[in-house]
Amino acid sequence: RLLIVDFGSQVTQLIARRLREANIYCEIHPFQSVTDDSLRAFAPRAVILSGGPASVTAPGSPRPPKAVWELGVPVLGICYGQQVMMTELGGRVESGHEREFGRAFVAPAGAHGEDTIFAGLFGDGREEVWMSHGDRVTQLAPGFEVIGTSPNAPCAIVADPARKFFAVQFHPEVHHTPNGRRLLANFTRLAGFTGDWTMAAYREQAIQAIRDQVGDEKVICGLSGGVDSSVAAVLIHEAIGDRLTCVFVDHGLLRQNEADEVVGMFRDHYNIPLIHADESDLFLTALEGVGDPEQKRKTIGKLFIEVFEKHARSIGGAKFLAQGTLYPDVIESVSFSGGPSVTIKSHHNVGGLPERMDMALVEPLRELFKDEVRALGRELGLPESFVGRHPFPGPGLAIRCPGEITRDKLEILRKADAVYIDQIRKHGLYDEIWQAFVAILPVRTVGVMGDGRTYDYACALRAVTSVDGMTADYYPYTHAFLGETATRIINEVHGINRVTYDITSKPPGTIEWE
Ligand code: XMP
Repeated sequence: RLLIVDFGSQVTQLIARRLREANIYCEIHPFQSVTDDSLRAFAPRAVILSGGPASVTAPGSPRPPKAVWELGVPVLGICYGQQVMMTELGGRVESGHEREFGRAFVAPAGAHGEDTIFAGLFGDGREEVWMSHGDRVTQLAPGFEVIGTSPNAPCAIVADPARKFFAVQFHPEVHHTPNGRRLLANFTRLAGFTGDWTMAAYREQAIQAIRDQVGDEKVICGLSGGVDSSVAAVLIHEAIGDRLTCVFVDHGLLRQNEADEVVGMFRDHYNIPLIHADESDLFLTALEGVGDPEQKRKTIGKLFIEVFEKHARSIGGAKFLAQGTLYPDVIESVSFSGGPSVTIKSHHNVGGLPERMDMALVEPLRELFKDEVRALGRELGLPESFVGRHPFPGPGLAIRCPGEITRDKLEILRKADAVYIDQIRKHGLYDEIWQAFVAILPVRTVGVMGDGRTYDYACALRAVTSVDGMTADYYPYTHAFLGETATRIINEVHGINRVTYDITSKPPGTIEWE
């Protein structure tokens, strides 16, 4: 495995993405947590030092532990990582030269043999790369030579072939360095990686790790029907069988047929012990008269924990709580200038439960990215309809029904949403869209159907593309699709007589309406 030491670059996660895509297992550790001992214990086959916002010329700027240079494994320094490598090994870095941001071209320099970090590069005599630096290397460390150069970065690529230390001034991990992937692949090949890390291997490894952690104890898992908790549940069940019990809290804010699908899949298909906690009356009663979005979220969050706790206790003696935490939630961010951030929405998760119930966590997905979780789900035989599902928020339809929630409105919303998603699937658009849903608006408008007047609810369709849910664009449907969908909703759903399409991006909008 490979270790990435994170010095706080905005794009460190992309290094891990690129390597995982090449079937190489790697982990990102913040520089503060990497010590001589932890490094030796991790025993990486190669190390990558990431970029970062600091300047090596500033006193107290971060450094990797000395053991990095003594392990005898290949090391690649990227941007700040390059400067650290040069400074630590006896070279020189200076500030105050021309800053360079954005596109640049690197040309090969010096002599190099066949099997270098250059294999397959420089076909056109130069490579386009993405630079972002103020400091630059002005004197090489002993043993290094320049093998690539750009107008503002004379030492764009440097190498000490004997020790297999390489360093680049640019960012090979970003898309704007078109052949960056190849450079990383050359580095990992020189380090002896063959790209044999597969989901099948991960599955075996994860099952063993769950067995080691849990021993003979019991585990409970909150199942939401989403991809993450579903994959975690199936994996844990494979590891410890019926010592796993799932609790599916039905808050009455689920989509059409959702509860049946989840119960059918896990209890009937996978034979996983499952408690279907149908608590819709409890939640919907508590939500009566509540119109404020934050109040809704808090009411649902609090009840959810109470209900989950009640059912978990009924199993008796579970020592572990399973959660579908993913890698992006885990990576400790390297922060140089923290500041208070504003709460836009209080997200609903089961936070606080483990302490309250005195339970340890089992998080078998904490090393995976979302698309890897999907791949693992496929590996475990979960059907595509589960694995490829759009995200669905914890508070469910409550936040797609702005203002006060009534059972009537929920029923109308469920039907409209089902028609909309059916349309998307029929047109083959489901997988192109990050998330799509209907929101029922708290206004009624006048319409005419047949010979009669109608006075019914208006609804809004939402569909966005996104990579991580943090930013999003509205999906550019054709007018024909929108027209056909509006007609179907109005014809098939009693209670809606007007359909609008929400074309707000995020920011300034959010994906959900509340
Ligand atoms: P927003 O509306 O903030 O949503 O743009 C970003 C993503 O997060 C989902 N979302 C939630 N997921 N609990 C969740 O598990 C929540 O309370 C919650 N609120 C929003 C939303 O569906 C979108 O994918």
